Formats: sequence, structure tokens, C-alpha cells
Amino acid sequence: MEFLNSPPPPIRRLPLEDPAAATEVGPPLPSPGTNGNGGAPSGGFTAAKRSISAPQFSIRRMEIDGVSVFYGPKEAVKSVSLPVRQGEVLAMIGPSGCGKTTLLRSLNRLTELTSTAKLTGRILLDDVDTRAIEPTLLRRRVTMVFQQPNPFPMSVFDNIAYVLREQGSRRQRKKTLEPAVHSALDRAGLFEEVKDNLDHPALKLSGGQQQRLCIARALAAEPEVLLLDEPCSALDPKSTQVIEDLIVKLRDDVAVVIVTHNLQQAYRVADHVAFMYLGDLVEYNSASSLFNSPREQRTREYVSGAFG
Ligand SMILES: Nc1ncnc2c1ncn2[C@@H]1O[C@H](COP(=O)(O)OP(=O)(O)O)[C@@H](O)[C@H]1O
Ligand SMILES: [Mg+2]
Repeated sequence: MEFLNSPPPPIRRLPLEDPAAATEVGPPLPSPGTNGNGGAPSGGFTAAKRSISAPQFSIRRMEIDGVSVFYGPKEAVKSVSLPVRQGEVLAMIGPSGCGKTTLLRSLNRLTELTSTAKLTGRILLDDVDTRAIEPTLLRRRVTMVFQQPNPFPMSVFDNIAYVLREQGSRRQRKKTLEPAVHSALDRAGLFEEVKDNLDHPALKLSGGQQQRLCIARALAAEPEVLLLDEPCSALDPKSTQVIEDLIVKLRDDVAVVIVTHNLQQAYRVADHVAFMYLGDLVEYNSASSLFNSPREQRTREYVSGAFG
């Protein structure tokens, strides 16, 4: 596989658009119980708890450039352009059916697996058109975690080892893989909880642990971009908080894109937010601007709970 040996493309450092905005802690806008939590228990979270620091740096890794996605005649995503940056968390918000998952799945060409789906426009990874990248390789560089935790029906250790073996020599022994398995579990904030029994069946872990295992598995591929599609929607508030803390910690190592219909979650973890409505990207802004002083009327209505 020749492309594996070619040097990585150059990386561009972008100046931050609005670095001051990221540190601001504004008033809690979305009122819980309207559309702020999608009906989930709020668990004592309030948007006012946002305490993430400003990004230290920002490197553009992906560029979504005029992307439309059609399912047959239906246009689910309408000419969306967005940057995806390492050093930052990008949240995609919007009511159900507005195209968030479709856009997220387009980033690593998963939409291609739907026979009726057709994509126009371009998506670049480090300035290379993703259509020019072999899909299996692309899906290692841009990994995805789904709404429902989906560990493989094998041990905790083997869930991670599986990915490592796929990437390297299939014959790698357990001892050889151990450091990398431990490291992936550690990055996902799970190691301490499972280190005494890595042979434990993954499916017997709690939901929150299973989702962190899935994040560990996604990280084991050493991706450049991590895609999370409503990763906490099936979890209790405590696990949700653990995963939110983790997401913020990961942003320096990997560009993170999270889809959520939980506005407070977007406010807590994201540096930038993209608000989608009926396939359109209505507004893209720093989290604090989008929630505290939205440019668009539709954004204002959505974040204040008028619809959704
Ligand atoms: N496989 C599919 N075939 C046809 N239509 C689809 C498919 N997946 C999603 N859609 C439609 O595309 C629109 C966007 O869906 P989706 O991306 O799942 O939205 P969201 O994640 O914001 O809820 C919806 O109208 C949905 O019904
Ligand atoms: Mg969705």
C-alpha cells in the first residue's frame, strides 16, 4: 500500500477567529426541559458550568466545501461549508432530521454505504480530497463513535487489540500489544476502571464504560479526526459528564466533531458550533457567540427553545 509510506501533506496553522470568545462564560441560555436536554435528565448540569479554556492552538484538518447530500431526490444536506480543526471541538446541533448524522457520516465516506445517497461538493482531509483516499484508510484517519455503544462481543483487551492487529501485523502477540491497548484505554479515561480484568467481556461493562471503550477503540487507530454521533444520548448523567470531560481533553490531539441535540452539552464542550436546520447550515460561530448573541433569527429561536 504505497500511500501509507508517502509523507503526510503539509499542515496549515490558522489564526483563531475569536479566541477571546472561547473563554467567556456567559449566562445559561438554553432553558432545561425545553429542547436543551432532549428530554434527558439534566443531572444538575447547567450551561453556566461551562469552564473550558480557550484553545491553545487551531490547525485545520478537514474542510467541508459546498457539500450537498441527496437520498434519491431528497436533499438532506444543502451546500454546507465548514472547517474542522484540531485543537477545537466542533458541535453540530439542530433538530432531529436536519442532516447532522448525514453530514458527519460523509466525513469518512460512510454515506457511500447507503445505495441511494449521492454527495456533491468536496471534503478535504489535510488538503487531499477524501475521494482520493482509500476508504479503509480514511476510516482509520477519521474514526466514528455511534449513538449506541457497540463494543465487539469479546474481551475489553481484544476490542482494542482487534484494531491494532488490523493496522499492523496480524500475528502480533498479546504482550507486544499491551502498551498500546493500555494507552488507548487510558486516553479514553477507562484504564483505571478495567485494568484489573482486561479479559472481562466488553458487553458486561456499564453503558458509559462501553461507550468509553468504543472511544478507546476509535482512538487506537490514532485518528486525526474523531466523529461522535450523539455519544451520550444513551447514557446516564454521570457517564455523560465523564465523556464530556474526555472530549475536551482530546481536542489537542485529535480534531473532534460531536453531533448532539443537547444544547447544553454543545455549550459545555464545544469551541465552535454549527447550527443546522432542514439541511441548511444556518449559522457557524464560536459557542459563546452562537448561544449568547446569535446572528440569525432561526438560531435565536432554536437556542431559546422556540422549536426543535
Ligand atoms: N438512509 C436514508 N435514506 C433516506 N433518507 C434518509 C436516510 N438517512 C437519513 N435520511 C433522511 O435525511 C434527513 C436527515 O437525516 P439525518 O442526517 O439522520 O438527520 P439528523 O442526524 O439531524 O437527525 C432526514 O429527513 C432523514 O429522514
Ligand atoms: Mg442523527
